[in-house]
Amino acid sequence: MTKSISNKKNTKSNNVIWHRTLVDRTDRNQLNKHKSGILWFTGLSASGKSTIAHHLEKELYDRSIRTYVLDGDNVRHGINSNLGFSREDRRENLRRIAEFSKLFVDAGLIVLAAFISPYEKDREYIRGRFEEGDYFEIYVKCSLNKCEQRDPKGLYKKARAGIIKNYTGVSTPYEEPLSPDLVIDTEIFDLKKSVQEVLEFLNKKKFISI
Ligand code: ADX
Repeated sequence: MTKSISNKKNTKSNNVIWHRTLVDRTDRNQLNKHKSGILWFTGLSASGKSTIAHHLEKELYDRSIRTYVLDGDNVRHGINSNLGFSREDRRENLRRIAEFSKLFVDAGLIVLAAFISPYEKDREYIRGRFEEGDYFEIYVKCSLNKCEQRDPKGLYKKARAGIIKNYTGVSTPYEEPLSPDLVIDTEIFDLKKSVQEVLEFLNKKKFISI
């Protein structure tokens, strides 16, 4: 069904050799009775990415689908706690996430990754790290105005006051995706409908049957 992953071209040393496994992704997908892959949710802060990902995860869990949610606020407390929001740090934040998401996909999970990921170039890089058919970009669309009204963490207010620098949408850009696989407009759809749309998408792509 799918190839095993290999990092052999990406090591700094010539003396690191990829260790072949006895159990591979195909085996794990068969055991789980579903395909693995990644849904990459991109959008402004407060657009609804993480909320949709977590509610979707519950729906998938109820269907015995193995998942894992990764989101900016959590990952930045752990493995990426040494990174901030400069152009370079955001690129590195997303590069690392793409790499460990690849491992999760190899482990048989459907990864639900919710990151602002504001630059098209970075998103294209991430897409390029996955096999065709493993990666799907979901644009969680919501106007800056509406996100600022929502402002659940009060961060837009702080950004407008100049307390937070490089805030996406306020002092650094958010580049709208050029060719997302799915668009969820959270100014039109409520949470239930948004989750339903993604479930239907996963059904269409044969990850689940609803
Ligand atoms: S990304 O740009 O590198 O993709 P990521 O999704 O990991 O961002 O983190 C975004 C979260 O960090 C936001 O939801 C917000 O809570 C918080 N945050 C703190 N500072 C900033 C900032 N300058 N710009 C955007 N989000 C910020």
